[in-house]
Amino acid sequence: MIDSKKIIVALDYNDSEEVSKFIDSIDPSLCRLKIGKELFTKYGPKTIQEFHDKGFEVFLDLKFHDIPTTVYKACISAFSLNVWMLNIHLSGGYDMAIAAMKAKKDCQSNSKLIGVTALTSLTDDDCLRIYGCKRSDQLKRLKDIALDANVDGFVCSPYDIDILRVKNKLFVTPGIRTDDKVNDHYKAITPQEALKLGSNYLVIGRSITNSL
Ligand code: C5P
Repeated sequence: MIDSKKIIVALDYNDSEEVSKFIDSIDPSLCRLKIGKELFTKYGPKTIQEFHDKGFEVFLDLKFHDIPTTVYKACISAFSLNVWMLNIHLSGGYDMAIAAMKAKKDCQSNSKLIGVTALTSLTDDDCLRIYGCKRSDQLKRLKDIALDANVDGFVCSPYDIDILRVKNKLFVTPGIRTDDKVNDHYKAITPQEALKLGSNYLVIGRSITNSL
């Protein structure tokens, strides 16, 4: 049996009624919620307040990636929403990651700030084309940035944990499937297998939201 607090439901909806219907059917003691670009762009911070009012902890998944000053200011705004977790793209570089960590310090925030490594949609060929190296090499480069900036953990594929593994960092993993669909992830995995590989939190979208 999986500890349900390890489950983060990805609310990839663009309709607030559908979201309300979904969250009214689940118990905040059983999971956390992830709000991403689709929902946040349409409905904004008030959605986070609604989730908080219903007792849910929220992962704000906006994957900030910009010049350091802009990311600093965006993180200040995000931390002020009292989200449980927030993320940046580690490929924005060391200075950008440090700027995000400074925002956390300046807000005296207890939110977790985690770094996206190579997206779970990217194959070795994609990584070669974008970064000029294999997926595993890109992961090592991003791991160094994460450790130097001392972010709280990683967003990565469960299959990448082996390369990224380090003490006291969180591993938040999308690409989880309870059926045999892969959709746009380079490889999918079951919740049980992801936990065995060291995942601390499972980001699950369509396998849950399409099943209700
Ligand atoms: O529906 P599914 O379970 O595939 O949803 C995966 C979720 O994880 C999506 O909200 C997607 O934006 C997110 N994701 C992520 N980081 C990645 C890959 C996917 O946050 N590297």
